[in-house]
Amino acid sequence: MCGIIGYIGPRNTIKVLIEGLKRLEYRGYDSAGIAVMHKGEIKRVRVKGKICDLENLINEQLILGDYGIGHTRWATHGEPSENNAHPHIDCKGEIIVVHNGIIENYSFLKNTLIKDGHIFVSETDTEVIPHLIEHYYEGNLLDAVKKTVKLLKGDFTFIAISKNELDQFIGVKNGPPLILGINDKEKIISSDLAPILNFTKDVYHLENGEICYFSPDKIEFYDFEGNRIKKEKTVVNWSPHMIEKRGFKHFMLKEIFEQPHALRETIIGKTSLDEGKIDFDVEPSFFKNIENVHFIACGTSFHAGLVGKYFFEEICEVPSEVDYASEFRYRNFLVEKNSLFVFISQSGETADTLASLREVKRKGGRTLGIINVPESAIARESDATLYTQAGPEIGVASTKAFTTQLGILFLLALFLAKQRGRIKTSKLKKYISELHIIPHKMEKFLNKSKDIEELANRYYTYQNFLYLGRWVNYPISLEGALKLKEISYIHAEGYPAGEMKHGPIALIDEQTPTVAIAMRDRVYSKILNNISEVWTRGGKVIAVIDEDNNEIVKEVTNVIRIPKTEEILTPFLTTIPLQLFAYYIALRRGTDVDQPRNLAKSVTVE
Ligand code: AGP
Repeated sequence: MCGIIGYIGPRNTIKVLIEGLKRLEYRGYDSAGIAVMHKGEIKRVRVKGKICDLENLINEQLILGDYGIGHTRWATHGEPSENNAHPHIDCKGEIIVVHNGIIENYSFLKNTLIKDGHIFVSETDTEVIPHLIEHYYEGNLLDAVKKTVKLLKGDFTFIAISKNELDQFIGVKNGPPLILGINDKEKIISSDLAPILNFTKDVYHLENGEICYFSPDKIEFYDFEGNRIKKEKTVVNWSPHMIEKRGFKHFMLKEIFEQPHALRETIIGKTSLDEGKIDFDVEPSFFKNIENVHFIACGTSFHAGLVGKYFFEEICEVPSEVDYASEFRYRNFLVEKNSLFVFISQSGETADTLASLREVKRKGGRTLGIINVPESAIARESDATLYTQAGPEIGVASTKAFTTQLGILFLLALFLAKQRGRIKTSKLKKYISELHIIPHKMEKFLNKSKDIEELANRYYTYQNFLYLGRWVNYPISLEGALKLKEISYIHAEGYPAGEMKHGPIALIDEQTPTVAIAMRDRVYSKILNNISEVWTRGGKVIAVIDEDNNEIVKEVTNVIRIPKTEEILTPFLTTIPLQLFAYYIALRRGTDVDQPRNLAKSVTVE
């Protein structure tokens, strides 16, 4: 998961590349580099470290660039180091490449090229690309790239420029995303929209197996067979404003606070309260005769699928199962008649989820994406897509994407319930009406976020946490634990509370606090028993409870009160204190909240 960028135009190239890499940094940030052309000469600067380190180094060297390319890395082959940082070059130092993905046959290619006299200087898989282009270069960069891509296996999305063909860029897309943005004065090519939005909303999304060849006065597209192809320009509806922090200390905090707005944007226009109707911009016939549903996703999106299972059982009585994409893709899963396979992904680029989608399609299954990033790979390859309208999610820890995924899943459950005659109109209207109030209740709770900060200040030194939930809040215990571990590096485990006696209760002691979600729902009395089990063994308990619940306070150390709602809708609200708790603990521990160690926002390699 890396970020690649290229720019040619009248602006300060170095500044554009650095600013663009900062917007791509959440995709990977262990090393970085740029290469620029100036008066026919290449200047390359690389660092182990972050973009700000690269920027400082460049400023010291007073480099000028007419156009160039850049890269921010999440290491796959070769440790993070200056030498392994991109861009990579050929033997003669004339062809320069930045790459995102994994070249699966790089060892064979590298050995063959070495035998052919090529000198390699890095441990990366990427370095085979410039050397292969060099091997095939006979005066035409495009031809050499066309021959090169025929030999590469695996994921290879890259940008190449050469000092032998000034002002020419070549972009190749096979796996991770690649988008070309244009206006009448400049062109910018990038792994995603974030660096492009400041320049233009006119973009071309490259598909797998496509090459773009451009310069200040031309744009051409080809397939890997070398045939010229036509591509339609699209206009994106995201604004630059959406990717700024807007006064928040971190993107994650901003995105936590954006959840009411994001959920409104996601559900608005899909529901009409008076008629009790749910409208998706997908042909209703697509959802006909669904007898079972498979949710497939990773990480937080997997947790959304788990909540979706409870929605579907409770509201539309459609049996469903939920799978980690990394497991599902290698199973001999069955595609029963009238199954629907739902792929949930914020980025729409997660390698395991995309691979699972392709496997299902290969077996003839019906596929639906629940996606946030427009025109992303999973969105484009699914038979149909329901978009969350969360806007760009920059923080590595997913927050607003999660609650908007819940919004789509809940509406889908209502839609299927109505279509199958499983819900009275009065009940449907009641659910729609309560869902519309959820954003207001989110705001009401967010206004008390300082209480969570104070609570975090009491708990940030602990090294282990247990998160417990039951029924529809069991997935929220998993999500809360994931938030804490991925940004604060504290070990945290989410568990179905009923499992405590089957092992986890052995973990309880003074040094292992428990966060228990204890809403007054159908399993409330059961979670109270679990809280007592923890309490009587000296464990501290932080209980997430209904705002008017005064009975439970006796057997817990701290309570977090949240607004009441329908029991099946509580995950929309119980999630938020757990996001804030993780955020403020990480803040106190001084970790890099938006770019936690070892992580990247979009896992585009398996
Ligand atoms: C969530 O906080 C994590 N950053 C991660 O688990 C993420 O949810 C997962 O990688 C799936 O990403 P996707 O939704 O873009 O497919």
